[in-house]
Amino acid sequence: MRTPIVMGNWKMHGGVSEARALATAIRDGLKRPRVEVAVCPPFTALGAVAEGLAGSPIGWGGQNCHWEEKGAFTGEIAPSMLTELGCRYVLLGHSERRHLFRETDEDINRKVTAALRHQLIPVLCLGETEEERRQGLTFTVVEGQLRTGWAGLGAEEIARTVLAYEPVWAIGTGVTATPAQAAEVHGYLRGLVSELASKEIAQSLRILYGGSVKPENAAELTQEPDIDGSLVGSASLQPQSFITIAKKSASKGGSSKE
Ligand code: PGA
Repeated sequence: MRTPIVMGNWKMHGGVSEARALATAIRDGLKRPRVEVAVCPPFTALGAVAEGLAGSPIGWGGQNCHWEEKGAFTGEIAPSMLTELGCRYVLLGHSERRHLFRETDEDINRKVTAALRHQLIPVLCLGETEEERRQGLTFTVVEGQLRTGWAGLGAEEIARTVLAYEPVWAIGTGVTATPAQAAEVHGYLRGLVSELASKEIAQSLRILYGGSVKPENAAELTQEPDIDGSLVGSASLQPQSFITIAKKSASKGGSSKE
């Protein structure tokens, strides 16, 4: 059985003291979560979040990284800098990185490969725009993003990754994909994983949904057999909302003992 993951993407929110308070509130509200839980704060707050979450079951990760180990890359962060701060995960290919910062599938592939080399779990984000969905291109778009994002990886490496399906039209808009819309794409992606790695790996790989996940819709989304938790943006900045989402996502992992 796949254990769901509920991951908070704090984006560019939270200085050190705010992040510490948020992490501590989440830690106190989720002492024994029945799902895997992690938060991705801004880089500058990672140290404080790591201190606040040390010894708790809640993990943390970066929102991005570069593919090089070091060098003249002003403003960038190497994967080893994340592992040094205890990060378990790194978000890669988030739609804001793709669209606002022009990251290409090839860039993202280099990042995924570098993250794996440093024992980080890359959470590869995929998703179509509203226009692409209207044109019936959803499967084509996510398939292209997956094939290029994972190019050159062997089955054993694919098994160490997580996917996040995040339709661009659902991110930060308050419009959530219906469970059926999300499930259709998750099923398609799982079929591709089977082809690119193996049937067994496809059965164990976690595919998260992201895009306006809230306490009110977390349970119905996670109840879909192919949806293994969520990547939560704005609702992850409110400790009580995030805690509730984590508790409501436990349907596949058993009920929460909180
Ligand atoms: P949202 O963001 O929950 O605010 O829609 C999700 C994300 O960008 O990962």
